[in-house]
Amino acid sequence: MEKSNVVIIGDLPQTVLERLEEEAELRVWNKPEAIPYDTLMAWLKDAEGLLSRGDIQVNDNILAQAPNLRVIAQSSAGYDNIDIDACTRRSIPFGNTPEVLNDATADLTYGLLLSAARKITEGSEFVKRGKWKSPFDVPMGVDLYGKTLGIVGMGNIGRAVARRAQASGMNIVYHNRKVNEVNESMGAVYATFEELLANSDFIVVLVPLNNHTRGLFGKEEFRQMKSSAYFINASRGSVVNTNELFDALVSEQIAYAALDVTDPEPINMAHPIMSLKNVLITPHIGSAAIETRTRMAHLAVDNILAGLEGKPLPACVNEEVNFCLTNYKGD
Ligand code: DGY
Repeated sequence: MEKSNVVIIGDLPQTVLERLEEEAELRVWNKPEAIPYDTLMAWLKDAEGLLSRGDIQVNDNILAQAPNLRVIAQSSAGYDNIDIDACTRRSIPFGNTPEVLNDATADLTYGLLLSAARKITEGSEFVKRGKWKSPFDVPMGVDLYGKTLGIVGMGNIGRAVARRAQASGMNIVYHNRKVNEVNESMGAVYATFEELLANSDFIVVLVPLNNHTRGLFGKEEFRQMKSSAYFINASRGSVVNTNELFDALVSEQIAYAALDVTDPEPINMAHPIMSLKNVLITPHIGSAAIETRTRMAHLAVDNILAGLEGKPLPACVNEEVNFCLTNYKGD
């Protein structure tokens, strides 16, 4: 049987690539500096599957170049780079990789919080630069025990962060669009957005990026926080206005920011926020653990293979298209 054509943007773990290779003819666009963009566009013309990557915009323009596409998948939970309506209009199912990264992302998010609070990275730099001369003159952190952690966007990843924080003796408040019974049952307390900003010692952001959350944190929100507040963003960089975060940190309106995501990515090294001491930045590594990334890649391949076979995707975002596949009984 003839194999379907699949275009892959970016790299996949070798074992996952081999699994997909058994079922499909692959074209891998993983070296934009060596393979021209026009070549990718040419490949898309007869592609039936597309395994995309978060830094490529999949919109009407790109979909118009790919008239034979039957499925798109991406090895990430977030899909703010995908125009879901444009996929749905073309009856193309789009699959992401939720859940399999929850614990890894929660570990990293809580790791940022812990590292920021207890000055772990500062402590390490302090030692490496030979500044460790006395037990009394060391970087000083703050306690977690008894402090309030406010989680904005508390779903499964937020709950996994909350469990870790509860183990440190923190109290949890959260803000979602509405009260969530599962959050309440684990002892998290609902707060309005304003209450959460005003009362939290640590604020963790885990909202998806969309039209409601773009620029959610700016001058006004930082003004409402405690001057001792630690702000941790593990969602998407554009949820925060970076210039206004910089101003809030410089003017000591808030104490510290720990960011796993920036706008843009990679961050502009000339941005003044890079020179601040009270900022910790990691390169979007929430899910970057070998086992987790491998699970994500396998799920992305499961989504592609299901779509090529005309079956429902195991993790589909535009469920209306998946529903049609579920109920399709053949011509
Ligand atoms: C996700 O899966 O959305 C993570 O942020 C990694 O991109």
